[in-house]
Amino acid sequence: MRDYSEVTKSIAAICKGETDAITKMATISCELFHVMEGFDWVGFYRVVEPNLLKVGPYQGGHGCLVIPFDKGVCGACARTEETQIVADVKAFSDHIACSSSTQSEIVLPVFENGKLIAVLDVDSDKHDDFDESDKVALERIIKQNF
Ligand code: SME
Repeated sequence: MRDYSEVTKSIAAICKGETDAITKMATISCELFHVMEGFDWVGFYRVVEPNLLKVGPYQGGHGCLVIPFDKGVCGACARTEETQIVADVKAFSDHIACSSSTQSEIVLPVFENGKLIAVLDVDSDKHDDFDESDKVALERIIKQNF
């Protein structure tokens, strides 16, 4: 189980008083990517028009630019507005592979004033690397900052 206590505190401290969503997304991606073990790609896909996500601030290798709500794990998260945990991306037929090294991922919805504005995608090169404890901790970080 990962310890999120320090990163949760530092993100809250850095983002304190910040209201710009993209500024916060950039900061959160950077902090999580550099601090958390196994976070091999961290980034946001933003809702830019109905049923369409486009890549926002991220850290890691190239991320695909556009994801419709009916595609991929990110699309499933945006569509259902529920966190998605995929233990084995190769077994998830709808997965969009941005990097061949990715084995598992977690995608969480980001709400601002009750409206879905983005999803947070974290990818790991390890199989089955995310569980309920990651979901709870990452949802807390999102809730605290948006
Ligand atoms: N794997 C995601 C696409 C984004 S990349 O992993 C950065 C998906 O299936 O939605």
